[in-house]
Amino acid sequence: MLVRAVAGLLIVLCVVEGQQVHLRGLQEVTPPNGTSLSASEYEGLLGLLGGNDTTELTSLYRTSVHGTTYGDLLDRVGDAKPIVLVIRKDKYVFGVFISKGLLLPDDRTGSNFYDCQNTYPCDLWHFSLAGHFPKPTKIEIRPVIKRVEVAGREGNVSGANFIIGTYQLLACGVVAESGLGPRNKRTAADIRSCAQRIPMSLLPEGYTGEKNSSWGYALFGGGSGYFTADEIEVLQVRESIDQPSPPMTTAPEPVDSTPTITPQPTTTGPISAPLTTTSDPAESAAVCQGGLRWGGMVVAMLICTGGLL
Ligand SMILES: *[C@@H]1O[C@H](CO)[C@@H](O)[C@H](O)[C@H]1NC(C)=O
Ligand SMILES: *[C@@H]1O[C@H](CO)[C@@H](O)[C@H](O)[C@H]1NC(C)=O
Ligand SMILES: *[C@@H]1O[C@H](CO)[C@@H](O)[C@H](O)[C@H]1NC(C)=O
Ligand SMILES: *[C@@H]1O[C@H](CO)[C@@H](O)[C@H](O)[C@H]1NC(C)=O
Repeated sequence: MLVRAVAGLLIVLCVVEGQQVHLRGLQEVTPPNGTSLSASEYEGLLGLLGGNDTTELTSLYRTSVHGTTYGDLLDRVGDAKPIVLVIRKDKYVFGVFISKGLLLPDDRTGSNFYDCQNTYPCDLWHFSLAGHFPKPTKIEIRPVIKRVEVAGREGNVSGANFIIGTYQLLACGVVAESGLGPRNKRTAADIRSCAQRIPMSLLPEGYTGEKNSSWGYALFGGGSGYFTADEIEVLQVRESIDQPSPPMTTAPEPVDSTPTITPQPTTTGPISAPLTTTSDPAESAAVCQGGLRWGGMVVAMLICTGGLL
């Protein structure tokens, strides 16, 4: 009983102190067959996924093994879900969790988009496993931009094969020279050509990765925000944790903080912020982080209560 109470307390501290959750410390984990993830990276990812002892991942696709085109990825991943997309670039390991997987449009040349609030309730977040924070870290995406844009096999979304999160974005299949933007229609032949940026104000504390200081962006892949990944891997989570994350869906939406420049996606069509779009969402971030903190505490209390009963 005492042990449980202490464990519960530790979980509270852990969740409340910065969304850096790491609960599996005492267990042996074996990375799945064929993965590029080291044992410690895999363990870190499992911790962020918050699964239980039976949670397992299966490696579906790796650029170095299965080919580097968007079609190669789609062939291997299909409609698998939930999925984790992992990007490795030099010492950096990061990516996104997409509970609904990649939902392709019926039209091969078309595109699909879905948000994680209205269209398809789902869970979507960024993470870093190495190179950016002292430990594996989850980065929630603000509710209004919690959305996925996916091109058909021969289509494009703002010059990319897919874009995760409009404003806290990760996109691949991007031609670096022409960049990412609503007017861009050409995608890169190689899926490893990616773009990534997250406003510093929307990150947990402790970021030590590369950034564009004048514009206030963390650049997980380094470079100018455009980079060529060493490896992209897609894994499937074998146990359903396909729940909308309570902290973000219940977080209060900021009003009037940055109305002129913050992208405000609606359900009427895809909105892709070009990589050069700028804004200072500090106020919104404060509200969001407040929401996160409270949400984290509620989750932690639930876990504790469960543990004590
Ligand atoms: C992993 O691959 C090895 C060799 O191909 C095989 O013997 C083993 O059963 C596989 N393990 C799992 C968990 O699939
Ligand atoms: C793990 O979680 C899954 C899904 O929530 C549940 O079905 C399963 O029973 C859990 N397993 C254990 C050992 O708690
Ligand atoms: C990109 O998509 C647009 C429609 O969204 C289409 O008009 C254009 O032809 C596509 N370009 C390529 C190269 O597929
Ligand atoms: C920061 O980003 C802006 C916008 O993309 C760019 O114009 C500027 O050159 C970048 N600064 C550095 C130091 O890379």
